[in-house]
Amino acid sequence: MLKISERLCTAASYVRDGAVVADIGTDHAYLPIYLALENKITRAIASDVNEGPISKARENISKYNLDNTIDTCIANGLDGINKYSPTDIVICGMGGELIVQILESSEYIKKQGIRLILQPMTMVKELREYLQNGYSAIAENVVFEDNKLYQIICVEYDGIIKQYSDIQLELGIKNIENGGDKLKMLLDALIKKKEKKLNGFKLGGYDTTDIEKEIIELKKLY
Ligand SMILES: C[S@@+](CC[C@H](N)C(=O)[O-])C[C@H]1O[C@@H](n2cnc3c(N)ncnc32)[C@H](O)[C@@H]1O
Repeated sequence: MLKISERLCTAASYVRDGAVVADIGTDHAYLPIYLALENKITRAIASDVNEGPISKARENISKYNLDNTIDTCIANGLDGINKYSPTDIVICGMGGELIVQILESSEYIKKQGIRLILQPMTMVKELREYLQNGYSAIAENVVFEDNKLYQIICVEYDGIIKQYSDIQLELGIKNIENGGDKLKMLLDALIKKKEKKLNGFKLGGYDTTDIEKEIIELKKLY
């Protein structure tokens, strides 16, 4: 057994049984190793742009005798991923902007039935803004770990353009639907950020009408 962080474990929970999973930016390869040890996947590709993480990944894969189940590859983002035909693609622990760049440069992810499991470290709203152009949310989740909030977003391509509000983009439609403590954690953090901005606006003598309205709307979601 391999114990992984709650953040990675939550991302792993959205990988479908029997999947061929590609872990992009795998680093230590803990996620595909965990999934293989759980017998959840058929095959995996542990991919990273850097040689250092890939040699660490190879060592860990061999340590768990999984060389026949997990391939490694050095590649930028999703370059060349089609030759492995992954069904589920995981990209965790990267900035939202980099995740968008990686997604933008791939046509493979638009194939029917391909699932993306994303965990951006920053710019979650911007990532959702990109995803609303053709991807539909399958599931979303929030993890509080090491004093940080992490959002996990699971989507599949359907080609339909959505137009979410700023609040929906910040929080995620599935997180809003799910409600509960996880939504409360997101709301607490977002309202705190907006109140800080509001104070800055007040000090600077700027118009605060919009931001005050946003805070009122957010508070209605509790
Ligand atoms: C912070 S680690 C995240 C490791 C693991 N996915 C996790 O969430 O714990 C980010 C990894 O992404 C890799 N990376 C950065 N840019 C990349 C790119 N364009 N394509 C593939 N991997 C990349 C880095 O080399 C690094 O190993």
